[in-house]
Amino acid sequence: MIVTTTEKPSASARLKAAELAGELGGKLVERRNRTLKQLSERYSDAELLVVTSGELRYYREASETPLYFHPSMAYVRVKRLRKGERDPLVELSGCRPGDSVLDCTAGLGSDAVVFSYAAGPEGAVTALESEPVLCAVVREGLKSYRTELPDVNEALRRIEMVCADHASYLTSLPDNSFDIVYFDPMFRQPVTESSALEPLRALANHEALSPETIAQAVRVARKKVVIKEKNNSPEFERLGFERCPVKKTSAVGYGVIMIEPKQCKQPT
Ligand SMILES: C[S@@+](CC[C@H](N)C(=O)[O-])C[C@H]1O[C@@H](n2cnc3c(N)ncnc32)[C@H](O)[C@@H]1O
Repeated sequence: MIVTTTEKPSASARLKAAELAGELGGKLVERRNRTLKQLSERYSDAELLVVTSGELRYYREASETPLYFHPSMAYVRVKRLRKGERDPLVELSGCRPGDSVLDCTAGLGSDAVVFSYAAGPEGAVTALESEPVLCAVVREGLKSYRTELPDVNEALRRIEMVCADHASYLTSLPDNSFDIVYFDPMFRQPVTESSALEPLRALANHEALSPETIAQAVRVARKKVVIKEKNNSPEFERLGFERCPVKKTSAVGYGVIMIEPKQCKQPT
């Protein structure tokens, strides 16, 4: 992958490109006045990561629409929450101010943003993404993207993005260390109308969740483990989730595992 900047980069954009090339094992290339297509041909590499003044843009090919961070639907959902309206994920996860949330499948960070707003300044959201380029694009976007609403910007900044596979990350955590553990894996059968996720598909990890990972999530969660899947997916049963009722017309559904009060140690 080529890592470069825009044609007239600031000193900080140059520095960021160098850092990212090191982090992601990319080839740091000075842009000068060359087009992305020219760079791609010159260095025989189709993949490009471009550091602009405000964001990172990842191109699988110079001619394609890039992947970049944008809160998109999350912004709409957070604005609804600000007006006191309900959000299905916040409601069924029971996420409240002060909660800690582990989002095991960060993707473009939309659900993490909604959780971060709902958990508030006293809460905490850690978002895991196994794919390094995607993780970097979203991490940098969460640090710098500005909406016109300061409380939403603060919710973006509070999210801690971690580039990690959730199976090994969960294993490393102590029991009961997060209130809510959330999974939104790539659906076993994609919902074709979901064009918003199209640029993500090529980069994402498509591996199925294992029952062992869910057992780890149950150990780590204090309140609930939640999964999003295609409405009629057999994954809910296979992984031991209770389906939450959704409209018949809804393409996606949610499943929940309620955590029983875990036994306290008896005093000796
Ligand atoms: C459907 S997307 C999540 C979308 C996200 N909820 C949002 O609101 O933008 C699933 C993401 O989980 C990531 N993923 C899949 N398996 C993973 C794993 N084992 N560890 C960490 N991330 C994983 C994929 O790479 C993909 O980016």
